Amino acid sequence: MEQNKRPETMQRITTKELADAFIAEQVEAVRAQVGDKKVLLALSGGVDSSVVAALLIKAIGKQLVCVHVNHGLMRKGESEAVIDMFGKELDANLVYVDATDRFLDLLAGVADPEKKRKIIGAEFINVFADEARKLEGIAYLAQGTIYPDILESFKAAEGKKAVKSHHNVGGLPEDLNFELVEPIKLLFKDEVRVVGEALGLPHAMVYRQPFPGPGLGVRCLGAITRDRLNALREADAILREEFANAGLEGKVWQYFIAVPDIKSVGVRNESRYEGWPAIIRAVNTTDAMSATIEEIDYALLHKITDRITHEVEGINRVLYDLTPKPIGTIEWE
Ligand code: XMP
Repeated sequence: MEQNKRPETMQRITTKELADAFIAEQVEAVRAQVGDKKVLLALSGGVDSSVVAALLIKAIGKQLVCVHVNHGLMRKGESEAVIDMFGKELDANLVYVDATDRFLDLLAGVADPEKKRKIIGAEFINVFADEARKLEGIAYLAQGTIYPDILESFKAAEGKKAVKSHHNVGGLPEDLNFELVEPIKLLFKDEVRVVGEALGLPHAMVYRQPFPGPGLGVRCLGAITRDRLNALREADAILREEFANAGLEGKVWQYFIAVPDIKSVGVRNESRYEGWPAIIRAVNTTDAMSATIEEIDYALLHKITDRITHEVEGINRVLYDLTPKPIGTIEWE
């Protein structure tokens, strides 16, 4: 437990110089810990796992094996970006697993949000464990644990109840008895970002908005269907593109689309056109415990509405969610 406590004397990493010193220290520590053994990492493409990947590539190169599991609930272009950055640019040892069918088959007909989270979390471990068993000579498991995760587990140990089961990745099965490598476990998120940039990761990757582990699974509300999931993915890509064009990327904490399992009547080409509504959610927060609404400019809202209703098959309305947290949570499920 003690090595999981951030020493009071530890300086906040706010500059490139401090980040470089941290990186040099961790490179040495990782090399000393793992020697010539192989290390496995689940690389989601989120900030934390990406920074760990870049740090370990620097420390041990091809001794690191990254596994990217595409659960079919990623945003548009996300898995491709992971392959381009880590597989091609950084020439990492990357295993890409398209497990879309495994996940979507298991989720078919499941409407309860917590059940969906549990299925996604458990299947993620199954897929990852299957890949780990295929690989030879792995002795260590690297994780992008950061200090807020550790503080959260201290809270859980005191018996405080969570609103949602956010921590979707549990432990691996017992036959996979790896030792852990957690090089950023004493860092706060802002420090992880400074370290990521010092490692040469692109700004957009390091300042990427938070994305839940169950991905679009908790934004395709109720029981997930492939057609509604696709509509959600396309609408979300338009929202992100328009926010980027308007200079809002990196300025708004989190912005996304949710698509509920309801249809309304619309009209298209003078004919009845039933479709789902796309709900825009854009919030600001410092700690995700409470959140306020980003006041999106009306011209931008109109543009997004126009594009989504014209370009996305199956969507015939766009709604703007004005609910703060509390009373709403950030996600709809
Ligand atoms: P809520 O919806 O509880 O979300 O206000 C707070 C923050 O947590 C993210 N979130 C999740 N992250 N697994 C995750 O890793 C989850 O199941 C999950 N649910 C919500 C949410 O996107 C927001 O940043």
